[in-house]
Amino acid sequence: MKYLELDGGKLRVSNIVMGCMRIKDLEQTQLDTLVHTALEAGVNHFDHADIYGGGACEERFGELLRREPGLRDKIVLQSKCGIRPGYYDFSKEHILEAVEGSLRRLCTDHLDILLLHRPDTLMEPEETAEALQSLLDSGKVRWFGVSNHNPAQIQLLQRSFGQKLLFNQMQMSLAHTPMIDAGMTVNMRIDQAIDRTECTLEYCRLEGITVQAWSPFQKGTFGGPFLGDRENYPELNEMCRQLAEKYGVTPTSIAVAWLTRHPANIQVVLGTTNPARLLESCAGSALPLTRAEWYGLYKAAGNRIP
Ligand SMILES: NC(=O)c1ccc[n+]([C@@H]2O[C@H](COP(=O)([O-])OP(=O)(O)OC[C@H]3O[C@@H](n4cnc5c(N)ncnc54)[C@H](OP(=O)(O)O)[C@@H]3O)[C@@H](O)[C@H]2O)c1
Repeated sequence: MKYLELDGGKLRVSNIVMGCMRIKDLEQTQLDTLVHTALEAGVNHFDHADIYGGGACEERFGELLRREPGLRDKIVLQSKCGIRPGYYDFSKEHILEAVEGSLRRLCTDHLDILLLHRPDTLMEPEETAEALQSLLDSGKVRWFGVSNHNPAQIQLLQRSFGQKLLFNQMQMSLAHTPMIDAGMTVNMRIDQAIDRTECTLEYCRLEGITVQAWSPFQKGTFGGPFLGDRENYPELNEMCRQLAEKYGVTPTSIAVAWLTRHPANIQVVLGTTNPARLLESCAGSALPLTRAEWYGLYKAAGNRIP
């Protein structure tokens, strides 16, 4: 397992993160097995949001932490807030209230990391920063980041907040590559050249912000996994199969390795509830795809290299 040392070494996170958006309906023993499989494989970072399962995902995880209190200090616990039903809310009042809810459901007195889930265009940066500062001062949250933000949105908040924002969680998979596409086709009159993220990946690299890739196996947004979809992704599935054979892993590991191989030090936020798939994913944590293989997978997913 590869780890990233952040904030001058004060924060050490695995580059594979267990996302907890889909754990709501697991049996208790299934959840225990999943979490312990992750821990034994070296995963130390767990991602939540106040809205996952309407709060039930945090509750399920909190029950586990209550049953096994020794676990809390071994993990990096992350949650998100800022989404309300039908709109976004980065007001101080909402952020403080949302974090209280997450702490209660997760049965803990602090979050290691809080991310602001989706940009709120009505954000008053000073007010939002005041909320984050108050959470930091009270010890309820130690580090902060954002999700689905472009560079200017990050700068707008960062200008008012004294602690460096460390993360930006963005959708990214072999079948969802807007953060890569425009940079590969600069100045060309083709759709692939449309910059949908405003150079977010390059900006994050320049600023030392860690990108967390959500939905690493999905096509579109929650469109189902591209692995196994030979009808729409025949070349990609074939190339994943061939590389899996070469490296003695599975196509799942190759899909993860395509993200981890990028020098941006991307963290991969898994959504699997299947311990076997989780282990296959971990095998992609530090798998050294060659440049030719990395670009080959990108092309096999239907993208153009001019
Ligand atoms: N920041 C945001 O806006 C945002 C948005 C969405 C999600 N997230 C975070 O990202 C995490 C991951 O998101 P995600 O769950 O969409 O990611 P994902 O890992 O791409 O998808 C997981 C889902 O795909 C299924 N799956 C994966 N590979 C498969 C295969 N080869 N065959 C059949 N089924 C397969 C899994 O089933 P099994 O359970 O059977 O493996 C699971 O239902 C979430 O848990 C959450 O923490 C963040």
